[in-house]
Amino acid sequence: MKRARSAGIAALTAAIAALLAAASARAGDGAAQRGRAVLEAAGGCTCHSDVKGGGGPLAGGRAMKTPFGVFYSTNITPDPETGIGRWSDSEFVRAMREGLAPDGHAYFPVFPYPSFTGMGDEDVLAMKAYLFSLAPVRRENRPHDAWPPFSWRIAASAWRWMFFEPRRFAPDPARTPEWNRGAYLVEAVAHCGECHTPRTLPGALDRSRWLAGSKDGPEGELAPNLTPDADTGIGLWTKTDIAWFLKTGQLPDGDDTEGLMKEVIEHGYGHLPESDLQAIAAYLHSLPPVRNDALAEHEHGHEHGDESAE
Ligand code: HEC
Repeated sequence: MKRARSAGIAALTAAIAALLAAASARAGDGAAQRGRAVLEAAGGCTCHSDVKGGGGPLAGGRAMKTPFGVFYSTNITPDPETGIGRWSDSEFVRAMREGLAPDGHAYFPVFPYPSFTGMGDEDVLAMKAYLFSLAPVRRENRPHDAWPPFSWRIAASAWRWMFFEPRRFAPDPARTPEWNRGAYLVEAVAHCGECHTPRTLPGALDRSRWLAGSKDGPEGELAPNLTPDADTGIGLWTKTDIAWFLKTGQLPDGDDTEGLMKEVIEHGYGHLPESDLQAIAAYLHSLPPVRNDALAEHEHGHEHGDESAE
């Protein structure tokens, strides 16, 4: 009798343990699932995938041409030797939100931590859970090929000290929840400003011309003006035009986007829920229009009769 009862208790304990394990695995899956969505909102982190060079997805080594030299992205797969497999949660959060590696050295701002600093810890940790659910890829990081003084490690610390302030995104209570969601995505997670905002001489984002377009996007690509200026920006695009573009890469005139923008849409923004795409569009529509004649040769997917003269 006693034996039967203790066997029953043992069976019950085992069943409860199995249930708890399943629940925690599900919770883990849940975080990884959410993290996948966060990674997509970040454009899929395609700068870490050296597809042309035959590197695995997210295994780093992709060359990013900048006005300061060539920088190579790092391996962010969970490989313990060459990737981030040994990083703790707090090390990952610190890298994303403060631009510091686990050993304390500062990253060059070609890694867009000045935008990611606005992310909530929950989103950052979900992203880590997703990255850690992927297969580790062994691939050594490659040293940067920048010109002095940008080739000096100390330059990254000096830059960070001069131009960076950790700053979590704070919703504006005077705006709608949709606008705030769009602002959070554009300014922090999706880091649109890192490519679409012109930079000052030392490479900091020129916030007085926020999203007004840049000739020096990564890989030397021209990133157009996203403010609603009718001539040099996307002032003629409707909210639907913007949401459709971010989903499909198709410009209002039917042309397809190319290069980096195509990549971040395919692996990232294109997977966002419609509500997020609309939120981004609402935010972009609310920006003050900024004229940027430096990009005059760029067309914006709307035919203008007078542009052929240029
Ligand atoms: C990695 C750099 C990068 C990031 C990040 C990025 N873009 Fe782009 N974007 C570009 C480049 C480069 C182009 C030009 C592509 C072309 O010429 O086909 C572009 C083109 C566009 C266009 C077309 C504009 C026009 O006038 O033709 C829109 C709209 C746009 N991006 C919106 C966004 C938004 C919104 C985000 C953030 C959610 C974003 N981009 C993030 C690099 C980037």
